[in-house]
Amino acid sequence: MQESMHSKNLTRNQSWILGVLARLLILIAAVSSVMAQNANQPWMNTSLSPEERAALVLKEMTLEEKVSLLHGNGMEHAPQWQMPLTHISNGGAGYVEGVKRLGIPPLFISDAAYGVRDSGANGRYATAMPSSLGAASSWDTQGACEYGALIARELRAQGFNMTLGGGVNLTREPRNGRTFEYAGEDPLLAGTMVGNLMKCEQGEHVVGDMKHYVLNDQETGRNVVNAIISKRALQETDLLAFHIGIQLANPGAVMCSYNRINGDYACENSYTLRDVLKGEWGYKGFVISDWDATHSTEKASAAGLDQEQPMAGYFGPALLQAAKDGKVPMAEIDDHARRVLYAEFMSGIVDHPVEKGVVDVLSGLDVAQRIEEKSIVLLKNEKEILPLNPAKIKTIAVIGGHADVGMISGGGSAQVDPPGGNAIMPPGKGATHWQDHIWFPTSPLKALRAKFPNAKVEFDSGQDASATAALAKKSDVAIVFAHQWLAEGVDLPSLSLPDDQDALIEQVAAANPNTIVVLETGTAVTMPWIAKVRGVVEVWFAGSSGHTALANILAGDVNPSGKLAMTFPKSEADLPYPVIPPLPKEDEGQGTGVENGPTHVASKYTVHYDDGLKVGYKWYESEHKEPLFPFGFGLSYTTYAYSNLKADGAQRSVSFALKNTGKRAGAEVAQVYATLPEAAGEPFKRLVGWQRIELAPGESKTVTVPVDARVMSIFDEQKNGWSLLPGAYRIFVGPSSSQTPLNATLQVQ
Ligand code: BGC
Repeated sequence: MQESMHSKNLTRNQSWILGVLARLLILIAAVSSVMAQNANQPWMNTSLSPEERAALVLKEMTLEEKVSLLHGNGMEHAPQWQMPLTHISNGGAGYVEGVKRLGIPPLFISDAAYGVRDSGANGRYATAMPSSLGAASSWDTQGACEYGALIARELRAQGFNMTLGGGVNLTREPRNGRTFEYAGEDPLLAGTMVGNLMKCEQGEHVVGDMKHYVLNDQETGRNVVNAIISKRALQETDLLAFHIGIQLANPGAVMCSYNRINGDYACENSYTLRDVLKGEWGYKGFVISDWDATHSTEKASAAGLDQEQPMAGYFGPALLQAAKDGKVPMAEIDDHARRVLYAEFMSGIVDHPVEKGVVDVLSGLDVAQRIEEKSIVLLKNEKEILPLNPAKIKTIAVIGGHADVGMISGGGSAQVDPPGGNAIMPPGKGATHWQDHIWFPTSPLKALRAKFPNAKVEFDSGQDASATAALAKKSDVAIVFAHQWLAEGVDLPSLSLPDDQDALIEQVAAANPNTIVVLETGTAVTMPWIAKVRGVVEVWFAGSSGHTALANILAGDVNPSGKLAMTFPKSEADLPYPVIPPLPKEDEGQGTGVENGPTHVASKYTVHYDDGLKVGYKWYESEHKEPLFPFGFGLSYTTYAYSNLKADGAQRSVSFALKNTGKRAGAEVAQVYATLPEAAGEPFKRLVGWQRIELAPGESKTVTVPVDARVMSIFDEQKNGWSLLPGAYRIFVGPSSSQTPLNATLQVQ
């Protein structure tokens, strides 16, 4: 009896399993037949160019299908942005339907500024790379490439085929809450670093992106602010950074920003989108709006916006109707859709469909460590306090900054979730809110204990002044960990370290002259205590392997080689704006970002960028203000000598000799600057090239740096184009923007 019940059950189970299998087979057959059908379609011919393929498939599409490529379908983890298809979006920031019958895949879009966002909420894992500003301070284009490729592999493993990384806004305003997401204050450096990053990211078959186009240079009032700037200044600064990056990477998408530029919103600005990006630069990819940055249908479409995100308020049914009514020409719809299709073919996501897999955690830690080791900047090293000699050091005090448990990271839509949750909170919650202060479980204390096994390495939180001073006093060396959190949606009130950390550093330095400060920051900080400490090490937001990289630098296993990608001023009084212009009362609550909901209001909030061309070091030089640490500055444990500069006007290149005159191997970032002929009216140097050179002790190399005509040219508003002025260009070569031991003249005919 029992036997027969059992066999009956088996039969029932078996037939259920057979049923499921049969349905699965039918599904596989259906999918393969669509795939097989599509495999023979002319646009699947990989020997055709992406343009040709896009044109072929576009011809087959209905108007509805074209419009479906031009808007988002919500954002899974944002309650205010839900749509019928949001639940199939893979948990990213955005989702765009594909055209299945024609083999065009959906876009699964994720934020990924320094790693894939929202891994916690999605139950996944992502590597945090050092922040973009940190990586830019390595000046290492190969490292930038590895950075991008690693993020792309993790995006694909998580099921995404499009990134929202690639921040390239210039650091005009160092209190900008997103400074850590960008690559510093110089257009050549920022454009080249982000361009290489995105080239390699897209090379792994994800649709690339560059953002936030353009002049989204502060977060205060970002949804309403009208940024006023001359055409020439815009072209030679922020636009130049984008142009250099876009030429290097040809990203599938460029994200237009929240702010207004000279009156028009960035996502309906015909000058920046239609005339410059698509016209002058011949950009072939699509313009994607920042999240909720679309303000119109006809105006935005005509100006060059191709895709609204994350919803469909203007580019969904309204665009369809406008096209049917003839208010938006069909040619415009075709152009928008063709651009999205081009990006899909060009990036390879059609031919290499995304497949989920296990993130390669170990290689992530490895790449993050190598890049961080090159990004760390040694700012002060009095009496060669660093490196610490493991054979001699007996006691180390590690003080403050939660250095017993971890290191801080940058917030907002860039946030990467740490494994196990926030290191300063009870373990558990993996998902994070976008304005939480998140600490990665990368404990400098543990890393230092491992690196100095024969020393007594003790921690003090810095909470109790007398206990802190007592520990500092009895130790051979005191290392204070200071931090300054930054995030999207909010600017810093000042560049001072928050939470009385300046006072803590002063107390420690008073107790022990051998004090070293480690800065975990996302932008510059002021240092009223600078004369009282022996060492300062800037590690930025250091990523998943920050603690290991830092320990290697402190112990001298790695020789520091990073150079500042932005100026550190002595005080806010030296900035072009001593304070960020305050938001008018009526705009309060409108300006801070996504989580405050839609913010479409008429506003009078204006920022005049009268500093114009003088961004960063150019400002300090022309205003004769001495910074605390200049752009391009960074020390090493060895020394270098520069000699024998030759400037070749015909070849537009400069060469010089560089020698490692110390006892350790090292890498020097040798920088080439130029001043333009007087007719240019630019009383400051510009970075025109650099090279990162590795040298053994005593080794000497001849270094040749090509000088790009583009970064020597000026934008002529009269002729609405670029001019390389004839005349004498002074060339300056050296280890930083303010230390240029070599100079010569380069004649341009
Ligand atoms: C940010 C973008 C981001 C988008 C999607 C916006 O708040 O400005 O950088 O890609 O949200 O999360």
